[in-house]
Amino acid sequence: MAVKIAIIGAGKFGEVHLKVFKQLDMMGVVELKAFSTIKQSEIDEFAPKYGVKGYLDYKEMLRKEEIDGVTVVTPDFLHREIAVYAANQGKHILVEKPLDVTVDGCTEIIETAKKNNVLLEVDFHKRFDPDHIAVEKGVKAGTLGEILYCSAFMEDRIEIPTEWFPNWAPKGSPGWFLGSHFVDLMLWITKSAGTSVYTCGSKKTLLNDYGIDMYDSVSALIKLKNGASFCMDTSWILPRGFEAVVNQGMRIVGTKGVWEVDSQDRGARSCSESEGMRTWNNNFMREETDKQGRTVYKGYGVDSIADFAYNVEFLQQGGSIAELAGKYPAGEDGREVTRICAAIHESLASGEVVKL
Ligand SMILES: NC(=O)c1ccc[n+]([C@@H]2O[C@H](COP(=O)([O-])OP(=O)(O)OC[C@H]3O[C@@H](n4cnc5c(N)ncnc54)[C@H](O)[C@@H]3O)[C@@H](O)[C@H]2O)c1
Repeated sequence: MAVKIAIIGAGKFGEVHLKVFKQLDMMGVVELKAFSTIKQSEIDEFAPKYGVKGYLDYKEMLRKEEIDGVTVVTPDFLHREIAVYAANQGKHILVEKPLDVTVDGCTEIIETAKKNNVLLEVDFHKRFDPDHIAVEKGVKAGTLGEILYCSAFMEDRIEIPTEWFPNWAPKGSPGWFLGSHFVDLMLWITKSAGTSVYTCGSKKTLLNDYGIDMYDSVSALIKLKNGASFCMDTSWILPRGFEAVVNQGMRIVGTKGVWEVDSQDRGARSCSESEGMRTWNNNFMREETDKQGRTVYKGYGVDSIADFAYNVEFLQQGGSIAELAGKYPAGEDGREVTRICAAIHESLASGEVVKL
């Protein structure tokens, strides 16, 4: 029995969800029922492209379509209202990261999902990257000894805040948009939680050159419960000439070893007259052609979204949410990430250390 899926939000990342579920539909795992957006232009573009019905009102979509699970791919600050509504309609939910921008919002989503016995998953795709899975396994096996410190950086090119989502970007920050990925990854790898946060940030390029009142960079020092420290730099003002749309990496150091991942430059690069120097993270998402000549997408960016469909399929086959515990990024994990990201921004505003 195919899992009946609908998507709420059809912007830049909503189209990635459309691609993933269309592909699973082709494989017979999913029946992609519909998507919703508040923009007619996106319905005009995506409904014929993916052969799926579009709605301008997600509540109408949930009322009219027979749906098992929905994915929420709207701007961050809208996740709460939509996820709570969908859970109350008895739908399993995959929410894009961050789960919500407030801890209270996360708690409301978690409790509503529990009350309705529906699955709540958060799309933290860094956990699905094979290079990160290897680090998690190595740390769990004790190969690094006791973790002393870890660090990560994630930096987008400037077109992301200025062209990708200029309308809602002023309500975001690189600390939320990018930081939430690596906060989740480090909590997952270290099996720890935050105890305090101190943050510095800068407003220069976006404010002075683009008139957008938003942080260019957010750097945080997070103390973890296991005694380790986690230092994270995020920014989204890399020049357009940078060789990839995102620059990212992580390292983790313990009493017995070190592990490093260059998550951007995985060794594949090109140079052409039209594109200049480029590096390729083919692990994230790559286009391939299957034996029938159909376009298919592979990579950890696909796996993390598809994971939701496979979890719902598991439930439909008689499995329970309790049996899935620890095997997917859950609402509670999303809340820990939000707790830290909210503290990062509280510290940014106050200039003080924030205790968690
Ligand atoms: N996992 C990742 O790597 C990744 C990457 C990019 C974005 N995201 C996340 O995905 C989410 C969406 O980001 P985006 O870049 O696609 O934003 P976007 O601005 O391109 O798209 C937002 C979409 O939400 C729709 N929308 C707004 N209000 C709505 C409503 N009430 N009902 C239905 N649709 C509504 C808009 O019409 C639009 O289609 C954000 O939470 C973002 O943080 C995740």
